[in-house]
Amino acid sequence: MAAKLVVGNWKMNGSVEKNRSLVSALLQDEATAGAVVCPPCVYLSQVRDLIAGSRLRLGAQNVSRYGDGAYTGDVSAQMLAEFGCRYVIVGHSERRALFGEFDADVAQKMVVAVAAGMTPIVCVGESLQQRQQGDAVAVVLAQLQAAKELAGVEVLQASVVAYEPVWAIGTGVAATLLDVAQMHGAIKTALREWGAGDLSLLYGGSVKPEGASELMALPGVDGVLVGGASLVAAQFVAICRAAM
Ligand code: 13P
Repeated sequence: MAAKLVVGNWKMNGSVEKNRSLVSALLQDEATAGAVVCPPCVYLSQVRDLIAGSRLRLGAQNVSRYGDGAYTGDVSAQMLAEFGCRYVIVGHSERRALFGEFDADVAQKMVVAVAAGMTPIVCVGESLQQRQQGDAVAVVLAQLQAAKELAGVEVLQASVVAYEPVWAIGTGVAATLLDVAQMHGAIKTALREWGAGDLSLLYGGSVKPEGASELMALPGVDGVLVGGASLVAAQFVAICRAAM
């Protein structure tokens, strides 16, 4: 069985000092080998230097959909790659909801990320209302289908997908094992039909050390995308141990 992928999305948290102490704690435990940390963009250079020579890997939380040029405030895929990013999160629900990103933006970001040699971590997930209406699977598959059609199947094949139900993000209420198993089963079936069955599929949304091993033991769960618990070294290490 392939190793599980554990990705920490720090979101807009951290400081030079906090990053230093968090990363040094992570580096003290072998369980974090192969895990990915995604600090805010301004700290990528600092974290790249902190993890140099280790097996921790670096990712970004966002990328411009454009190449270098007159795009004030944006950061291109080439720049992220130059700073050692191997992964970049795209289409996170916070970016979709708060920054007006649509499927077409997400797909374009996947394209530029892959062109720059990075692996996009493409986030999909339904709202509470959509789940209550029984539309969860349809909504998630439509997001993925848009990614496949707009970015192309080759770009999708070079990506990682993260199922993050919006109602589970930052709420402390993770999806149940049954919810995750059903959704991951539906996503994997669709990916196989599209010729992208080898993709890694992560779960994200209130992942904590408690329950992490049961979650990652489910068929179709290839790892986790961790928000809040990735800011606490002991919790992130415990999740990495659960992935071993
Ligand atoms: P939490 O783990 O804080 O719920 O965040 C999940 C997430 O959004 C990771 O991208």
